Amino acid sequence: MNAVDVVIIGAGAAGLMCAIEAGKRGRNVVVLDHANKVGKKILMSGGGRCNFTNLDASPENYLSHNPHFCKSALASYTQWDFIALVKKHKIAYHEKHKGQLFCDNKAKDIVNMLLAECEQAGVKILLNTSVNKIEHEEQYTIETNNGKFCSESLVIASGGLSIPTMGATPFGYKVAEQFGINLWPTSAGLVPFTLHLTAKEKYADLPGLSLPCEVNTQGMSFTEDLLFTHRGLSGPAILQISSYWQPSETLHINLAPNVNLIKDLKIQKENKPNTLVKTALQAHYPKRLINAFTEENILNQPLQECGQQQLEKISQQYTHWLIKPNGTEGYRTAEVTLGGVDCNMLSSKTCEVRNQPGLFFIGEVVDMTGWLGGYNFQWAWASGFVAGRAA
Ligand code: FDA
Repeated sequence: MNAVDVVIIGAGAAGLMCAIEAGKRGRNVVVLDHANKVGKKILMSGGGRCNFTNLDASPENYLSHNPHFCKSALASYTQWDFIALVKKHKIAYHEKHKGQLFCDNKAKDIVNMLLAECEQAGVKILLNTSVNKIEHEEQYTIETNNGKFCSESLVIASGGLSIPTMGATPFGYKVAEQFGINLWPTSAGLVPFTLHLTAKEKYADLPGLSLPCEVNTQGMSFTEDLLFTHRGLSGPAILQISSYWQPSETLHINLAPNVNLIKDLKIQKENKPNTLVKTALQAHYPKRLINAFTEENILNQPLQECGQQQLEKISQQYTHWLIKPNGTEGYRTAEVTLGGVDCNMLSSKTCEVRNQPGLFFIGEVVDMTGWLGGYNFQWAWASGFVAGRAA
């Protein structure tokens, strides 16, 4: 039996941050992970450059059944704290878009930084270690294929269900069930949409095309790029709205978020009445998009033959595009998992289970999901930090 102070299950973003903080306090910490490498999701994140935080991270950027829960942790460990750590390790980074900070070089810089901090804090990491059984009497006993551990504190940092090929498992939810902790149903978030066959046929020439849009559902709206794919729709705007979308809901998409399309068509009609509708639209959209959105006979009409109503109808095909997704691509490609461990069962100051002393849940396994843009890592760092200060 290996006796330690803290066992952390999951050597991802949240688990490593928690290990560092607990280790710094002089706690004897061991991190267990069934994978053969630490931080696999960090390595694949941000297109290999890890969007490690966001300059504007705040509680408004998170979805949860208890949206207030993240306030305490996010205030205890802010984006500026993580940026200071990145600077301390001399990792070059840049702001790409809307406050999103990425490594200049590789995501591996972040993993190496966390490993260096773990080493300094005396943290032991055991990879290729699967947990078979957890029991609690006075202490937690964790039975693994790599020996038996007992500890005063047990931290579950095993993440959500997204990208099972990267080692994602429902492990954390099972531990929650074992200890009678409520779970909110889980679903894929920050995920592309698939389209019904008829829509796929209609937009068959569009895969690869990306353009700015404003997308709305459930009273939420995002103005970002949309990307047509072979399966359906993706791009930042779509990933963002997917976390708010409910099955069978219709998306309202404005493909002219930065242009007053109807006004522009009227001006073109006034100035050059012989211009064909398709030529007028080509000022804003590529031909293949126009062909998919407006009927051929209308496209070949001169603007002077279009009445006010017809111009409005043409414009609305782009500004009020209504599309009902078939579904999402699911956990296979989702960046995050919505739902999970009910925040109301945890202390917001430490992420410790209220009626189960010594048991903590942090990171993505908790019902706290960030927007696209570095917010999910910031939650992992912050929840890991507060648990590490208490575990
Ligand atoms: P994480 O999933 O990182 O770690 C969990 C660990 O637990 C893993 O090491 C896993 O092997 C281990 N584990 C699981 N089950 C286990 C078991 N049964 N036994 C032992 N160990 C087990 N976010 C962001 O802010 N910026 C970004 O750029 C990106 N980019 C991005 C790209 C892609 C492709 C994905 C899939 C996700 C992102 N994300 C992101 C989201 C981000 O990666 C995610 O929110 C965090 O990694 C969550 O951190 P955790 O530590 O909670 O889980």
